[in-house]
Amino acid sequence: MNSLRLSFFCVVVVLGALPYFSYAQLDPSFYASTCSNLSSIVREVLTNVSLSDPRMPASLIRLHFHDCFVQGCDASILLNQTDEIDSEQTAFPNDNSIRGLDVVNEIKTRLENACPGIVSCADILALAAEISSELAGGPVWEVPLGRRDGFSANQTLANENLPAPSLSIDQLISAFANQGLNITDLVALSGAHTIGRAQCRFFVDRLYNFSNTGNPDPTLNTTLLQSLQGICPNGGPGTNLTNLDLTTPDTFDSNYYSNLQLQNGLLQSDQELLSANNTDIVAIVNNFISNQTLFFENFKASMIKMGNIGVLTGSQGEIRSQCNSVNGNSSGLTTTATKESSQDSMVSSL
Ligand code: HEM
Repeated sequence: MNSLRLSFFCVVVVLGALPYFSYAQLDPSFYASTCSNLSSIVREVLTNVSLSDPRMPASLIRLHFHDCFVQGCDASILLNQTDEIDSEQTAFPNDNSIRGLDVVNEIKTRLENACPGIVSCADILALAAEISSELAGGPVWEVPLGRRDGFSANQTLANENLPAPSLSIDQLISAFANQGLNITDLVALSGAHTIGRAQCRFFVDRLYNFSNTGNPDPTLNTTLLQSLQGICPNGGPGTNLTNLDLTTPDTFDSNYYSNLQLQNGLLQSDQELLSANNTDIVAIVNNFISNQTLFFENFKASMIKMGNIGVLTGSQGEIRSQCNSVNGNSSGLTTTATKESSQDSMVSSL
């Protein structure tokens, strides 16, 4: 091989290898030799917490989603406000809304005792989401691991990237496309609303003054409308809670989708999946209604795909010793976003 051909060969080999080096290499057995009890520790903490707080699995699935949509799954959502950190916890979609930060800290403390300095907070979020699905009766999957924790948070990006419940179907599609997620991912991941609660302030516009019409949202079932008006009086506290899934609020199943057929989606963004008459989306919803196994398979695949967004691996980032602050910074230990006990006392079921 002459030198010209050799250098051409080298360029081809290096360029050909680049995507593999830059693509995240996560692996379910990442901690097999360094923290073999990882899964059982996370499971034990979550099982205990769920006994007294059956909403917690929902809150942890959402926490992973809100982490991944803002500069990737790097545990940025866990960082508290400091002079250097622009905490995401007070971004509009998170403020007085995200839950489970204390549970993540409890898991981290247990893990630091069992295998110090090994497991990232970003991986704790991914694993907690999967075990939460399992505990609620949902799909089970092997979670690819090996994420590392970031050094920063970005409140502005949290406000921009986390979808608002008032988004139209086209806006939802583009919010997911911005993260490399397609319409099947959008429909499957929205199915997480098969469990958990929402506060009145996120859907009250549908009850009294939808799109400034002075009337309720015409795509909201009238029986549900009446119940919701009881739970969320006009001008009342926006913090009252109700179930996202009208029929089976704490069970992970496909009823979320069949509720939509009766116009029983709680958030506008839920009902949009059917009411916007986007034929591709409607077809996916109908497939999930008729085949729960198909929904579960797609939910698993989409959670794994979401869990790969912008991950830090190898020598990038760090393994935080405390999830709420970057290493070497002990300030800002106050967690701002959770007012869990006050919210829980106001749950209203229909
Ligand atoms: C499609 C766009 C989405 C919008 C507009 C949206 C919006 C919301 C809103 C407004 C709440 C209520 C929060 C509160 O009242 O404090 C909520 C709750 C929840 N969301 Fe979403 N969400 C979306 C997608 C997702 C995705 C992709 C997941 C997970 C894969 C998810 C999981 C959850 C869960 C489990 C809850 C209940 C949390 C709890 O009870 O603590 N959501 N969502």
